[in-house]
Amino acid sequence: MLDLLYRRRSIRKYKPKKLDSETVQVLIKAALLSPSSRGFQPWQFVVVDDSDVLTQLASSKKGAGFLKDAALGIVILADPAKSDVWIEDASIAATILHLTSESLGLGSCWIQIRERQFSESETAEQYVRRILSIPENLKVASIISIGYPDETKTPYGDQDLQFDKVHWHNY
Ligand SMILES: Cc1cc2nc3c(=O)[nH]c(=O)nc-3n(C[C@H](O)[C@H](O)[C@H](O)COP(=O)(O)O)c2cc1C
Repeated sequence: MLDLLYRRRSIRKYKPKKLDSETVQVLIKAALLSPSSRGFQPWQFVVVDDSDVLTQLASSKKGAGFLKDAALGIVILADPAKSDVWIEDASIAATILHLTSESLGLGSCWIQIRERQFSESETAEQYVRRILSIPENLKVASIISIGYPDETKTPYGDQDLQFDKVHWHNY
């Protein structure tokens, strides 16, 4: 696990190669295995592999453009009526997808949607909701872009770790 965590980086360049259906199933299972507060599982997922839809989603905000070249985008939704800590639960599912992608030799990146803007008059959440026909009761937290990596990034090493952020016994 620690090796995977040192290796994991945000990958924003992807080869033009689709994922096979077994790989997509592994990712879906991983998302559904995410822990959630009191086991309420307030999340839902929209799995997008259509490149026209990915291109539309890539315009949802600044810093999402690379999604158009991804093989897959998994949009993470959550129902606040099901859990008061839906943001945490949605974030854990996003993290699980990011790490599972790495474990499969895939590159992935978190794209923040919640609290981001599409334009001055429309939030990124409203835009994604419009594109994907997401019902009003569900919040749009993030999108995880996934694909075969077309960039290599230096893995982390111990020199990158800020041990001074760790306090023992007392602050
Ligand atoms: C909550 C969160 C939101 C993020 N949103 C974006 C985003 O919208 N676009 C993007 O390109 N990267 C996004 N990232 C990726 C970060 O920029 C990246 O994790 C950070 O720069 C560290 O790089 P690394 O992942 O390679 O270690 C996000 C990461 C997190 C955890």
